Amino acid sequence: MIFFYRLFQFIKYQLNSSTKYYLHSPFVYQFYLNVLEGAAEKETSQINLWRAKLRKDVREIEVEDFGTVKSAKRKIADLEKNVAVKEKYGLLLFRLVKYFHPKNILELGTNIGISSSYMARANPSAKIISLEGSENLIEEAKKNHVSLNISNTEFVCGNFDETLPTSIQELLAIDLVLFDGNHTKDATLKYFELCLPHADENSIFIFDDIYYSVEMTQAWSVIKQHSQITLTLDVYQFGICFFRKEKLAKENFVLRY
Ligand SMILES: C[S@@+](CC[C@H](N)C(=O)[O-])C[C@H]1O[C@@H](n2cnc3c(N)ncnc32)[C@H](O)[C@@H]1O
Repeated sequence: MIFFYRLFQFIKYQLNSSTKYYLHSPFVYQFYLNVLEGAAEKETSQINLWRAKLRKDVREIEVEDFGTVKSAKRKIADLEKNVAVKEKYGLLLFRLVKYFHPKNILELGTNIGISSSYMARANPSAKIISLEGSENLIEEAKKNHVSLNISNTEFVCGNFDETLPTSIQELLAIDLVLFDGNHTKDATLKYFELCLPHADENSIFIFDDIYYSVEMTQAWSVIKQHSQITLTLDVYQFGICFFRKEKLAKENFVLRY
């Protein structure tokens, strides 16, 4: 059933999404050119080479039951292939961070540290706090970041319910949040509300898996309508929110990627 829901949403996205030729907003046009169409860079090819190694890693680790991940032994190769951000969207994260230069980045959902590696590489002077409930996953993420010579990520272990409020206090300002854990409507909206008071005009919130389930799409609809958010971009895998005050009318763009 969920397969058909996602397929239906994907077909709808394909039919509704715009290319750069139909964009009337200069800001969104520049986003398209620099983030969706930007070149693949050397730094991301290093990460992708490392991922190719992980895809062959048959070691098993015990992953605690957090969010939608079942408590079980899982192969590193399986986590890389089925849980971590796909290379295409990792590249999007990389180019987005490179283009907007967020200094304080918060990630909900480390897993084995793949999405955070793209963001960390894109701006080595950024401070990244990545939250994860499973200690074993954090250990793997740390090893991966060491192998990739990444040193600007701090991993925090525990349930988001406890670690999110304290991490927000530590960062003071939040320039970018990647919400990529606990894909339920209530949790997504709760974490969104917790981060909102710390967003400013230049903050960017990215929600992963907005068509993962009916609940996640409902959460995305609520988020899009929030009065503080002025512009939303839908690239199917991610819903991206901006708080830019110069925008007078709220707009949502579905962008082909
Ligand atoms: C989809 S994975 C993150 C993938 C990662 N961002 C990437 O692309 O490389 C989501 C992670 O969130 C963690 N998680 C889910 N709910 C959580 C919670 N309430 N507290 C802490 N961690 C949680 C899971 O253990 C899982 O590793």
